[in-house]
Amino acid sequence: MKNNFFGKSFVTVVNLTLKDVELLFRKTDMMKKNVINNCQIKSAKGKIMAALFYEPSSRTFSSFISAMQRLGGGVIPLNGMGATSVAKGETIEDTAQVFSSYADIIAIRHSTKGIVKQFSDFSTVPVINAGDGIGEHPTQALLDSYTISKHFDNFSQLTVGLVGDLLNGRTVHSLSQTLLLLGVKRFIFVSPKELKMPKDICQKIRASGAEIQETETLTNSIGEMDVIYDTRVQKERFTDLAKYEKLKLAYIIDKIMMDKAKTKAVLMHPLPRVGEIDPEVDSDDRAIYLREQMRNGMYVRMALIDLILNK
Ligand code: NCD
Repeated sequence: MKNNFFGKSFVTVVNLTLKDVELLFRKTDMMKKNVINNCQIKSAKGKIMAALFYEPSSRTFSSFISAMQRLGGGVIPLNGMGATSVAKGETIEDTAQVFSSYADIIAIRHSTKGIVKQFSDFSTVPVINAGDGIGEHPTQALLDSYTISKHFDNFSQLTVGLVGDLLNGRTVHSLSQTLLLLGVKRFIFVSPKELKMPKDICQKIRASGAEIQETETLTNSIGEMDVIYDTRVQKERFTDLAKYEKLKLAYIIDKIMMDKAKTKAVLMHPLPRVGEIDPEVDSDDRAIYLREQMRNGMYVRMALIDLILNK
């Protein structure tokens, strides 16, 4: 199977093909097996990854670092750019050239939508988008869809509910388009009217023949969902904090809410959660954000780094 990831940057889900995702999922299965069986993998031996995180991160940053090291590679781990020349005013174009002098691959997170693409234009090594402002979070979409694929046989039969801050949440922007590619035909978007999914993404989904139901209430719609994908209201994107306070807990998933969900549904969240999922739900078999989804992030990132570095 042709590896279209080889030697290329991965900035958006828009250019993915079904075959690309299938290849990545297969590689992810292998990575998972190797890690579980304690097998040494050496496919990034002698290579260095720079992780440049201009915005806070726990999971994405650590799983990228862990992934690279598990592949036998080395890392330049910068969680925060405050101690680099960025603090002196170095431009994104120069920073791209600096780190591509030292690294073979770069994972970058930034607060500005579109800037990772700009960075990749100046980098001489492949760049992975680890989140660009309210834009995209393509590796999260891959790990989320990989996780979903382990629970359901057929994407085309699923009703996928995306819940929360669909306007500012980059995870749902990438995930909805990836699931569309994988064959999902029905989405329910649950958000306050101020935080609706961007129109261009809705248009793309509808133009592909899939259905979107948009609603402000979760109580009435949760029972239809096979996948319940909850998200945090993105405080850092608000200029008016009073507005954030009003919207932050628009939906709370607790045991009572989960009683309305299908018995075979899965409850996911990219994390961090800040009150929108009650910890009492964690022990529910359907809650897979802590048990499974998070860990899959490492396997998926191992697979992606491997495919980018090796033909
Ligand atoms: C998400 C992000 O950074 O966009 N977190 C993550 O990468 N797992 C979600 C969020 O911060 O709300």
